[in-house]
Amino acid sequence: TRTRVGIVGGGPAGLMLSHLIALSGIESVVVDVRTRREIEQTHRAGILEQDSVRMLVETGVSDRVLRDGYRHGGIELAFAGAGHRIDFEALVGAAAQLYPQTDVFVDLADARERDGGDVRFGVTDVSVHDLTGEEPLLRFTDADGVGHEVRCELLVGADGSRGVCRGSVPAGERRQFFREYPYAWFGILAEAPPSAPELIYNHSDRGFALISQRTETLQRMYFQCDADEDVEQWSDDRIWEELQTRVGANGYTLRQGPITSKTVLPFRSFVQEPMRHGRLLLAGDAAHTVPPTGAKGLNLALADVRVLAEEVERALGKQDLGLLDAYGERALERVWKAQHFSYWMTTMLHRLPEASDFDVRRQEGELTSLVASTAGSTYLAEGYTGWPRG
Ligand code: DHB
Repeated sequence: TRTRVGIVGGGPAGLMLSHLIALSGIESVVVDVRTRREIEQTHRAGILEQDSVRMLVETGVSDRVLRDGYRHGGIELAFAGAGHRIDFEALVGAAAQLYPQTDVFVDLADARERDGGDVRFGVTDVSVHDLTGEEPLLRFTDADGVGHEVRCELLVGADGSRGVCRGSVPAGERRQFFREYPYAWFGILAEAPPSAPELIYNHSDRGFALISQRTETLQRMYFQCDADEDVEQWSDDRIWEELQTRVGANGYTLRQGPITSKTVLPFRSFVQEPMRHGRLLLAGDAAHTVPPTGAKGLNLALADVRVLAEEVERALGKQDLGLLDAYGERALERVWKAQHFSYWMTTMLHRLPEASDFDVRRQEGELTSLVASTAGSTYLAEGYTGWPRG
């Protein structure tokens, strides 16, 4: 069989791309090795930039993001004994939207199904071939065990950091930029009411904690832990005590309840350049990973595919592949801004294992200058709510 664009990865990046190009009459096939259920049940971040919200609404994916999401006009930065509000609306006239990535995925999968998009979940043996030829090939076995070969005009790798596409670019044709961090996040879901109206990014002597939310009755929280932390060692009581100690240092009290999910999230920064190899284009986590602080990962993936959809339409319309270089040129500027933002939020708020008292006080000095400065706070507000479209 054939299609115009073969898309590896049916997460938000792959599905949004498929949706956007379908609006211009370009058909695609999307495959993912995970089942729809697996993707729906993997907890991810929960904050959308205002342009991500706009993209979902204006392209007809979902108005549920407005109905079921929560507008947050700011965040709390808590350190050295007190909380300080960063007022996004006053500083940059924008807000962030609390809406879980799993719901973004459900909305996109529903939209593709409603529009008759070809999306295959639960496939196996995915591989991509002939990347620099005239007709690249997408090969996979579907959920019923039937093998498929799909010839395409373009292939898109939206298959995340552990997918096959990134590595199918020959080593001599790519550069990889990588950074590790000596900590991770312990993430929980708890059946409790919100502890505060907005998110709290909490610096403390015992390490970082983030008090986020999901609904009126379900909350999402994270605390800095070792990369090899074992969730089995953490009873509900021990988790609440650790979280409460960290935020209590800055004057907050958490509302507690049964913990329904416990997972450890790795931290790393990664970029692969270029984002194009022949007729293969990389998007989202297949091309780059950010540490979770600041919730840039999903937003960056959506920004990638918004640019990619425009460039795919242009290149296929004019049958000129050279035009595709514009994708990486446009996307990488935002990628590196987001890399810096995520690195900066991370290193400003987390405690290094070997941190000296000087290191902790210096971080408090950085946070104090940030909240005391309109320029500093505005920089944070711009990055958090999302830089303008490039
Ligand atoms: C969430 C995750 C983040 O990394 C962040 O910066 C804010 C919120 C969340 O899952 O709610």
